Amino acid sequence: MQGQIVRSQDELCAALSSQDSTLNQSLGEILVENQKLISRHQLDELLRQQQNGIQKRLGVMLVDQGLVSQEQVYLALAMKFGIPYVRLDDFEIQSDALTHIPAEVAVRYNIMPLVIIGRRLVVAMENPVDLSSIEALTFAINLKLEAVIAPLRDISVAQSKYYSRFDEYEALKDKHLAPIDYHVSQPDPMHVVEAQARKKPLVRLLSAIVLQGVVRGASDINIRPDKDGVKIYYRVDGTLQFSRVMDRSLLLPLICRIKVLGEMDIAERRVPQDGHIRLMRGTRHIDLRVSIMPTVDGESVVIRILDKEVGLKPLSRLGLASVAQQKIATLLQRQSGLFLVVGPTGSGKTTTLYALLNEIKKAHAHIITIEDPVEYEMSGVEQVQVAASREVGFARVLRSVLRHDPDVIMVGEIRDSETAEIANKAALTGHFVLSTLHTYDCISTVIRLIDMGVKPYLLAATLRGVLAQRLVRLNCHLCAESIAIDSVSRNILKLNESDQVLAGRGCDGCNQSGYQGRTLVSEVLMVDDTLAAMISAKADSSLLIERALTSGMVRLSDDLIRLVKMGLVAPGEALSCTVT
Ligand SMILES: Nc1ncnc2c1ncn2[C@@H]1O[C@H](COP(=O)(O)OP(=O)(O)OP(=O)(O)O)[C@@H](O)[C@H]1O
Ligand SMILES: [Mg+2]
Ligand SMILES: [Zn+2]
Repeated sequence: MQGQIVRSQDELCAALSSQDSTLNQSLGEILVENQKLISRHQLDELLRQQQNGIQKRLGVMLVDQGLVSQEQVYLALAMKFGIPYVRLDDFEIQSDALTHIPAEVAVRYNIMPLVIIGRRLVVAMENPVDLSSIEALTFAINLKLEAVIAPLRDISVAQSKYYSRFDEYEALKDKHLAPIDYHVSQPDPMHVVEAQARKKPLVRLLSAIVLQGVVRGASDINIRPDKDGVKIYYRVDGTLQFSRVMDRSLLLPLICRIKVLGEMDIAERRVPQDGHIRLMRGTRHIDLRVSIMPTVDGESVVIRILDKEVGLKPLSRLGLASVAQQKIATLLQRQSGLFLVVGPTGSGKTTTLYALLNEIKKAHAHIITIEDPVEYEMSGVEQVQVAASREVGFARVLRSVLRHDPDVIMVGEIRDSETAEIANKAALTGHFVLSTLHTYDCISTVIRLIDMGVKPYLLAATLRGVLAQRLVRLNCHLCAESIAIDSVSRNILKLNESDQVLAGRGCDGCNQSGYQGRTLVSEVLMVDDTLAAMISAKADSSLLIERALTSGMVRLSDDLIRLVKMGLVAPGEALSCTVT
């Protein structure tokens, strides 16, 4: 039977034993002739679009334009190649099959081993004609490989699900064997731990934990010991999700492995340590920033995943309202002065700064950044790291950077009066200075800088604009539905009786949370002559706000309400966002 959907090991064996012939037809032809899912006219139109430079594969275009479902595309591909299409969601994978392909290899080639039948190892892959990778694999494992088809996303999910469970079990087994393995009667615990940390199950366990974070789109992975064991959490869209608990005895070797990779001191277990790890995933690398903190229950780890595709967003993809984007574009045209991005911890300030630099870069300016630490490397920008020797500090590095003839300076954060003062002087002497501050809105930023000792007349001369921001979770677009809202919330959110509001119900697509992704809530202050004069005269914050609103500033709370009215943000999420 051609183009079968297979959901279990039994079905897979049956399907593979009834030899299928491949169809010597293209995907498009199969969908038109064989499946009759699209018309020839539709196919011709798509092919024409491809010729006119749309760089997408036919299958992707078909799904994007809603002509066929993802499943129908995979079925047609399965027919083309004469192999089964495997649904991995409920497929029980044979643990024997797992032992033949290590996690790193599976990830590198985007495959998932499923089952061994006789001398054949069946693996799921998205592109079963990717022969070179199959050959590279067979060389190592001594089994004949047989490919079946599955979507890449399902393969990634299966990889993280199975490899971590399996490796945890193997690592535990290995631990009990460790002292015997090393023929030591009185084993030095650290020595044993270190040996275990270098062995395969543990190496794989850690990579599976990290990989799962990448697949889930997490920004951080927390590995936390407590009385019950070692708990793994992932931070996705700003919220911690509990993943699972592992045996406590795995903590030491796991930490040891992390320290080895991050070039930290293995023996030191009483002071906090920071490190950096670079991983390869397919052809792109992912940087991990590791921080280890001793607690009474053992060392606790936070791994920040720095994925360039997430962290280096263009300005247009930050989620700024178009009015805010226009104002920022105007501000960026200024050649000098001070521009600040403000908000609480984790509100996306650094991501915005990188997006701004990316815009500025286009004008070929000489850009120098001073960061603590450098999060993403940007080409065409000179980046200086402060963290390496903390006693140097932002202020001192900033002084020497000024002698280096920059046009634009990005200072990671203004933390103290000295940095505030030098940043202002730099802005006054013809540099364009960008930085961040931990304040809640635009006007309080002005007040805070003056409190930090910046002279009001100086600030009035340098400050060009402030962008205050927050990140809010977006409703999951798959399960958002209209909900009722109580009158108190309705009043706080300034909603009319007729305003419809939406919230996610929770579905498979969003891990039952009701949310998917985040967007920015923003407030942009542009400092004009009138406002500058008021700042210089140390005007009261209420007067400054009044003036800013008159000249068109949209407050954070109003921007947030806009998102609720558009049905993008749930009222509950909006109310929990600190915007005033
Ligand atoms: N515009 C955005 N849309 C969606 N996610 C974003 C956006 N900006 C940042 N994020 C995500 O939010 C997290 C925090 O971002 P970022 O590090 O830029 O914040 P920050 O304000 O600089 O934090 P900190 O105060 O710790 O320096 C990251 O995971 C980032 O990928
Ligand atoms: Mg930051
Ligand atoms: Zn959902």
